[in-house]
Amino acid sequence: MSLSLDFTNMMGAALPHGAGITAAQLTDASDAFAKAHAHVHAMQAELGFLTLPVNEALRDATLAVAEQTRGRFDDVLLLGIGGSALGPIALRTALRPPAWNTLSADARGGHPRLHVLDNVDPATIAATLARLDLSRTLVLVISKSGGTVETMAQYLIVREALARAVGEDAARQHLVFITDPEVGALRKIARAEGITTLEVPPNVGGRFSVLSPVGMLPAALIGIDVKALLAGAADVMTRAASADLATNLPGTFAVLQHIADTAHGRSVQVLMPYADPLRDLALWFVQLWAESLGKLRSDGTPVGPTPLPAVGATDQHSQVQLFMEGPLDKTVTFITVKGRERDGMIPTRHADIPELSYLAGHTLGELIDIEQRATAGALAARGRFNATLAIDTVDAFHLGALMQTFALATAYAGVLYEVNAFNQPGVELGKNFAYAMLGRAGSEQARAEWDALPKP
Ligand code: PA5
Repeated sequence: MSLSLDFTNMMGAALPHGAGITAAQLTDASDAFAKAHAHVHAMQAELGFLTLPVNEALRDATLAVAEQTRGRFDDVLLLGIGGSALGPIALRTALRPPAWNTLSADARGGHPRLHVLDNVDPATIAATLARLDLSRTLVLVISKSGGTVETMAQYLIVREALARAVGEDAARQHLVFITDPEVGALRKIARAEGITTLEVPPNVGGRFSVLSPVGMLPAALIGIDVKALLAGAADVMTRAASADLATNLPGTFAVLQHIADTAHGRSVQVLMPYADPLRDLALWFVQLWAESLGKLRSDGTPVGPTPLPAVGATDQHSQVQLFMEGPLDKTVTFITVKGRERDGMIPTRHADIPELSYLAGHTLGELIDIEQRATAGALAARGRFNATLAIDTVDAFHLGALMQTFALATAYAGVLYEVNAFNQPGVELGKNFAYAMLGRAGSEQARAEWDALPKP
């Protein structure tokens, strides 16, 4: 496997007036990184995502459930939100052909379509249910806590529709829950009704759960090679065993972004794959980076970078103007895919029209790569920090590697920012106000606080 990070364009020497990260800043950071590394890797018991790549029991349990359902369903409907949806979406987009759900069963190799509902917009849910044959649909209800309001509301609606379509008894055979092994409403229902469940280990947080059954089961159902996914992630863990910053790629990524933010004011951190299959990986990364690092430190100081998704070359005609000339507050991390030089030959036509003839003999693979390099160079020439992550190919192994790289980088960055990367206290207040308005028992205090707020 090859996963490399070229960060020349983050460094002073590559940027006008040497205005990038200095070699001294990197050297100084290596001690802080060594401490972050020791801290994170000593927490294997608390940070279950570190060992998901080698958790064979969980992998085998997941593959067994996938096997039990083989051939019985044309559609999989996933109900979940946040970390319980973004990973599966990213895997489907990256590792299945484009427009997977519109392909024929043959083109899908007999695997089902995968629909993900990660919101409670009534129009989307009604439209999705209207086009599904529920008698041929498997419903995955994914919630680590087993009680998230959006997922529970979806579940109630879909369960009702399933019961109407196939009957109360048969409906149970159309459900798989992925949730905490002990607590939560889903676990209670599963116990009472004998519904098939897979566990999200208690020490694996939502946004770190893509390599648990949360991502593995939907991936396996649509024919993604889950073992390769885990192998890529395991490979990253082996390479990241060293606390030497020079050889630890997730560490280098975390340290560079942290210095760029805290010492150079580059707090908006763009992830910009030049590859359509990786569009949704950028959205998955956004949740990981934002929800993990945007926090109040223990002294009350608000910290954290703002991640921003983009995709090349498309966003060269959209956000890149801002990246080039807008505030000097960004880093851009490109993801490129090697070995595409021969893909998509551009034919010779209109040889007499210079605006087109120069393209003859080139390929789309060359074009997208050249455009990425040109954008990286242009940004550097204007003092804009950027780095390039390169992978050999978009396959399950490299996706696993990329996802574990970002998860590990997030854990390191949490230590560097001095925040707990594994909680999300900031989402509680809004949630409690919503519970209060919905009349959930126990939310009387939130109701009083809500009522006391000035209203328009
Ligand atoms: O990362 C997280 O922990 C959150 O974004 C959760 O994934 C999200 O809130 C959904 O939670 P749950 O899986 O408990 O329904």
